[in-house]
Amino acid sequence: MSMLFVFSLFLLLDVPKSCNAEKNYTSFMLVQQWPEGYCEYQEIVGAKRRCKSRPHKFTIHGLWPQESNGQLITNCTVTSNLTEKDIKPVEPQLHSNWPNLIGTDLNFWQFEWTKHGSCSENEFPKLQYFQLGLHNYAQNNLMEILEKAHIVPNKTHLYNATDVLSAVHKHTQHDAQLACYVDPNHNASALYQIGLCYADDGKTYKNCPNSRGTCRKQLMYPK
Ligand SMILES: *[C@@H]1O[C@H](CO)[C@@H](O)[C@H](O)[C@H]1NC(C)=O
Ligand SMILES: *[C@@H]1O[C@H](CO)[C@@H](O)[C@H](O)[C@H]1NC(C)=O
Ligand SMILES: *[C@@H]1O[C@H](CO)[C@@H](O)[C@H](O)[C@H]1NC(C)=O
Ligand SMILES: *[C@@H]1O[C@H](CO)[C@@H](O)[C@H](O)[C@H]1NC(C)=O
Ligand SMILES: *[C@@H]1O[C@H](CO)[C@@H](O)[C@H](O)[C@H]1NC(C)=O
Ligand SMILES: *[C@@H]1O[C@H](CO)[C@@H](O)[C@H](O)[C@H]1NC(C)=O
Repeated sequence: MSMLFVFSLFLLLDVPKSCNAEKNYTSFMLVQQWPEGYCEYQEIVGAKRRCKSRPHKFTIHGLWPQESNGQLITNCTVTSNLTEKDIKPVEPQLHSNWPNLIGTDLNFWQFEWTKHGSCSENEFPKLQYFQLGLHNYAQNNLMEILEKAHIVPNKTHLYNATDVLSAVHKHTQHDAQLACYVDPNHNASALYQIGLCYADDGKTYKNCPNSRGTCRKQLMYPK
């Protein structure tokens, strides 16, 4: 057999896995949580789960594959569970920027991997997936972005949702998606999360659907 023949045979047989598998998501959402809001929300929804820390910055909740209408794609086939070894090179950054506010960090990363990350595993294996989340997070310091528009945490002030969205739009040129809960003490909508959307390459910004999300027209940015 000629070398060339053997080589072409090898090419024919070794079809990469990613060429076979059909991608079933069209976009990603990088969800950042605002700890003051997120922790209040956890207590209000009755889970009575206390936060062990409340970093004074937005932190990563997750990077979620979804369909273009915003429908999440979750609970895909997990070929192997996430272990600490898989994310060792970025573990310090994950502890700092992707912390579990209510439990142990590794449990949170495993949960996010099983529920969301595994759905884009063919394109973004474990380490690459967490690196992508950290990379996109580093480009979007939401606290700073809001501060530039004079939107700062405040116990009572109501901000217009449109102002919050336009502050983020100035930075990304695209629509974000907000998430709020109802603060029963003020009967007001309060911010706990902001999502930024990306195309299926995980890098190109894209408009999120339903920008105001679960927020009313005016909202608090809890302090
Ligand atoms: C996916 O799994 C999570 C965690 O086990 C569960 O809470 C959730 O209901 C599941 N979602 C769907 C759509 O099955
Ligand atoms: C989406 O694709 C992933 C990876 O190919 C697969 O594990 C999963 O089962 C698929 N999920 C759905 C809802 O089709
Ligand atoms: C991953 O962990 C879950 C829960 O601990 C277990 O049920 C499942 O079988 C594991 N999956 C794999 C592929 O090892
Ligand atoms: C919070 O909002 C109130 C009411 O709008 C305002 O008077 C106060 O100065 C604000 N506090 C801070 C720290 O921005
Ligand atoms: C919110 O928007 C309304 C209508 O555009 C405007 O009158 C109001 O001053 C705004 N409120 C704040 C706090 O910016
Ligand atoms: C709370 O606020 C909503 C929206 O502004 C209003 O419709 C509702 O009547 C208020 N509820 C109470 C108990 O004040």
